[in-house]
Amino acid sequence: MAYPWHYDESIQVGTDYQDENEVRAYDQRMQRLRNVGREVEEIQRALALSSEATVWEIGTGTGECALALAPRLQQVYATDVSPVMLQYASRKAAHRGIRNISFENGGFLSGFQPDGPVDGVVTQLALHHLPDFWKTQALDAIATRLRPGGRLFLRDVVFPSGIDNYDDFFSKIVDGVRSKAGNDFADKTIQHIRKEFSTLDWILEGMMARSGLKIIQKDYQGFLSVYVCEK
Ligand SMILES: C[S@@+](CC[C@H](N)C(=O)[O-])C[C@H]1O[C@@H](n2cnc3c(N)ncnc32)[C@H](O)[C@@H]1O
Repeated sequence: MAYPWHYDESIQVGTDYQDENEVRAYDQRMQRLRNVGREVEEIQRALALSSEATVWEIGTGTGECALALAPRLQQVYATDVSPVMLQYASRKAAHRGIRNISFENGGFLSGFQPDGPVDGVVTQLALHHLPDFWKTQALDAIATRLRPGGRLFLRDVVFPSGIDNYDDFFSKIVDGVRSKAGNDFADKTIQHIRKEFSTLDWILEGMMARSGLKIIQKDYQGFLSVYVCEK
């Protein structure tokens, strides 16, 4: 780290994605609960990505999104701060014969970042690992790496403003997760609210604007929000 006050993003907050059992369990849970094919359709459309496009995915995790995007694009840089996640994802790429993903150790703030301007940046369920000040630095780094007119696709837990009683709001969210995905995932959701750094929508939107990222689409999807921004 260049300065002693810099945030050490290699230390995991909440779930420890350096733990191989957590990584395997995460992958199995996500494969059960998510439709990656539909997600990448949504991402490719939102970012207007052609087959010549280059994309930087930050916090790739077990790599499902990068693996599904790669055959549609020229090049994907799939980055994460967890070497265990990267190893897990790159093994899948080798197994599936996908060669145009470069898996690199790096985060929003440090480590590998692509040299040239990229057409799109994708980050899902990862930005909430950073406290708010560091989110501003992350969004600046994203804006710097995007070509003019390039777009960011961000899906994450973002708390809506204008809620009268957040305890009632979170109780309903946790009950919904429990009935759809079981006790374990409900416990992870509680841990997320208590320990991780999801922020309020108006704060995140102010950060995006100050980084020169114009919001062109916003969807609230249950506990998750999707933002599409253009540089
Ligand atoms: C909940 S997983 C999401 C993985 C994947 N994007 C998905 O949608 O399934 C969060 C991932 O973000 C990574 N991560 C945590 N902090 C990060 C940071 N500062 N920069 C990049 N990735 C980070 C974790 O190692 C983990 O792989």
